[in-house]
Amino acid sequence: MKSVLVYYSHYGNTANVASEVQDYLRKLGTVDKLEIEYFSKNKGLLERVFYRLLPNLVNIASIKTDLKEYDLICFGIPVWGGRPSAPIIRYLKLCKNIQNKKIICFYIFGVDASAKICAEYVGKALGKKTHRTIVNVFIPWANVHDDNFIKDSFREVFKDEKTT
Ligand SMILES: Cc1cc2nc3c(=O)[nH]c(=O)nc-3n(C[C@H](O)[C@H](O)[C@H](O)COP(=O)(O)O)c2cc1C
Repeated sequence: MKSVLVYYSHYGNTANVASEVQDYLRKLGTVDKLEIEYFSKNKGLLERVFYRLLPNLVNIASIKTDLKEYDLICFGIPVWGGRPSAPIIRYLKLCKNIQNKKIICFYIFGVDASAKICAEYVGKALGKKTHRTIVNVFIPWANVHDDNFIKDSFREVFKDEKTT
């Protein structure tokens, strides 16, 4: 199985979980890890709030958006103001050829209700591109360094996949 792991991380929490998920995906076959970044880095808080409100204006650095070659797509999503961080919103608009793929979204969040609202938003955005059910995994910000918590959270998700 060929997997891709696409994520954005400003403070490093989503990146930390992405590394753990990468280890899982490696057991299933090959995995490409793609980090979404702003085209010009070191954005301050005000700029990031601006882009969160107007995500269509975000310029992300060059990244693969055609995901045709992958069987499984995994998105790592920091929750920010009840939505995915702006670079993720932009990427979800740009990515293509994801229909009929297994899609897993993991959310790094501080507030439970906010993470659920964010997942609904992502479900609608991806729902325009695929009819398959999206699998959601929720990792509270406080648990991003708890390896056992992360393992338990993903165990169920990967239980039916064949390891190589
Ligand atoms: C300015 C700011 C806004 C945030 N807004 C939310 C939010 O609306 N809902 C939520 O559940 N968590 C929120 N969080 C918590 C983030 O989801 C959490 O810090 C996450 O770990 C960030 O991911 P990263 O470290 O990969 O950048 C916010 C954090 C910051 C700093």
